[in-house]
Amino acid sequence: MDAAGTPPAASIRSPYASEINELVELARSARVIVAFTGAGISTESGIPDYRGPGGVWERNAPPTLSDFRENEETRRRYWIERRERYGALRAKAPNAGHIALARLQAAGILSTIVTQNIDGLHQKAGSDPGRTIELHGTAHQVRCLDCGTIWPADEIQARLAREPLPDCGMCGGMLRAATVLFGQAMPEESLARAFEAARACDLMLVVGSSLVVQPAARVPEVASASGAALAIVNNEPTPLDPLADVIVRGSAGAALGAFAKALLGKNQASGSG
Ligand code: APR
Ligand code: ZN
Repeated sequence: MDAAGTPPAASIRSPYASEINELVELARSARVIVAFTGAGISTESGIPDYRGPGGVWERNAPPTLSDFRENEETRRRYWIERRERYGALRAKAPNAGHIALARLQAAGILSTIVTQNIDGLHQKAGSDPGRTIELHGTAHQVRCLDCGTIWPADEIQARLAREPLPDCGMCGGMLRAATVLFGQAMPEESLARAFEAARACDLMLVVGSSLVVQPAARVPEVASASGAALAIVNNEPTPLDPLADVIVRGSAGAALGAFAKALLGKNQASGSG
């Protein structure tokens, strides 16, 4: 047991125990740890990713902003799909990976979570919304493309029962989920906060991202260029693997669960007690 009373990392039993031990040692010597997550942390909650095997984009490419604006048929199809799918997304539960990061953040070990995900599962797992930066927005709000007014997703969901093309109650403009589409600018303030966190950390933990979408994928690159150690937990290789100090080629849930357990001890990591 070390001074904090946590078990030696060597007690980790998992197919990639040695990599997680290395990750635990990096975390123990880090002052500021930032997590950068992608769709791969949510697949174990039943939300498909985009580019992994069987990912969403193997099936249907998302609409672009201009297509959405110019084409009423695209908007109709979008709202039919949204009405069918939002209830299921809203019901998804965070998995061991989200819970581990939330516990590490609550224990003061993890400072900020930068996520590309729009599913809100980090916050649902208990992560601090003020220290969870959503680079691509959130599916749990609807925004007017014309005046920017934000509407609660549930309110628009209820309207969809009788309105196939809901419009903005403030200006009559077009509505869409408050997520970022290709062709749309990312939330400036979120991106600036993410780069600030990247420059300030000395360990960046990337979880479940193919790291191919810009400018989001620049965040871990900036962390590494600023001198931070880089750890990547991902099922498949990524373009930043050559920069990584540690690579865990496996399940985000299992790896983060083992990581949190080694740093927090059994009870606190799993949330029991
Ligand atoms: N454990 C570890 N890795 C996983 C798991 C898992 N359980 N499930 C999937 N992965 C890996 C996949 O192998 C893939 O490399 O996570 C990665 C997910 O990559 P993408 O599907 O490209 O998701 P992401 O990197 O978040 O995409 C970035 O692109 O489509 C846009 O706006 C969308 O935010 C998204 C952005
Ligand atoms: Zn409006």
